[in-house]
Amino acid sequence: MLIDTHCHISDEDYDNKEEIIKHMEDNIMIVSTASPKDIKEVINICEKYKNIYGTIGIHPEFADTYKEDDIKQIKKYIKHPKIVGIGEIGLDYHYTKENKEKQKELFIKQIKIANKYNKTIVIHSRDAIEDTYNIIKEYSKVKCNMHCFSGSLEMAERFIKLGVKLGIGGVLTFKNEKKLKEIVTALDIHNFILETDSPYLTPEPLRGHKNEPINVKYVATKISQLKGISYAKTVEITSQTAINQFDLKL
Ligand code: NI
Repeated sequence: MLIDTHCHISDEDYDNKEEIIKHMEDNIMIVSTASPKDIKEVINICEKYKNIYGTIGIHPEFADTYKEDDIKQIKKYIKHPKIVGIGEIGLDYHYTKENKEKQKELFIKQIKIANKYNKTIVIHSRDAIEDTYNIIKEYSKVKCNMHCFSGSLEMAERFIKLGVKLGIGGVLTFKNEKKLKEIVTALDIHNFILETDSPYLTPEPLRGHKNEPINVKYVATKISQLKGISYAKTVEITSQTAINQFDLKL
């Protein structure tokens, strides 16, 4: 059984949502909010499908615009049995560094909610890896995943020492990607969980098409090749890690 530990499948992303959910058969999806307005939709989809779980949170791109009511919504729905984490949350200095302090404040605020309800954190970090590391180290008391990990091998090792798991997605299959291949080759497979970040980051050989959760199989295939272990074993190990990481009650 495959587990796509991070995807976005809102109506805004797909006009054939039902179909792409069917493609997953009995495999598991963990659907994440992209924007605070998605919270209700994530809850609805989790309630409708047995094999869908969710994480809710406020992405750093909303650090300037989120409302206190969004935080209230998170505190309300975090207790929902199908909500298995807070995310994606974190820091993104790629587009702007001007609101760094606000981003940090929002990140820490949500880590504290995760601590309180003992929920896993799904972290988005772009051009902000050192600050992300320091905040996780100082504030988090719960399990953490680095979604779509894009740091160096050295950074990966530092996160792993904190007990953080690395989300590995379609980027691993890209022809010109070296850093992530190096990380996957060098580190123990038990540090990895699989994800697609659908509808983004479509893996080879489907680049140019919209991504969907079933394509997580191409990530598993690439990891199995790099590690020299069977596809079945790769899926078994990474899915078990994901089950533990999110305390999934399947
Ligand atoms: Ni995402």
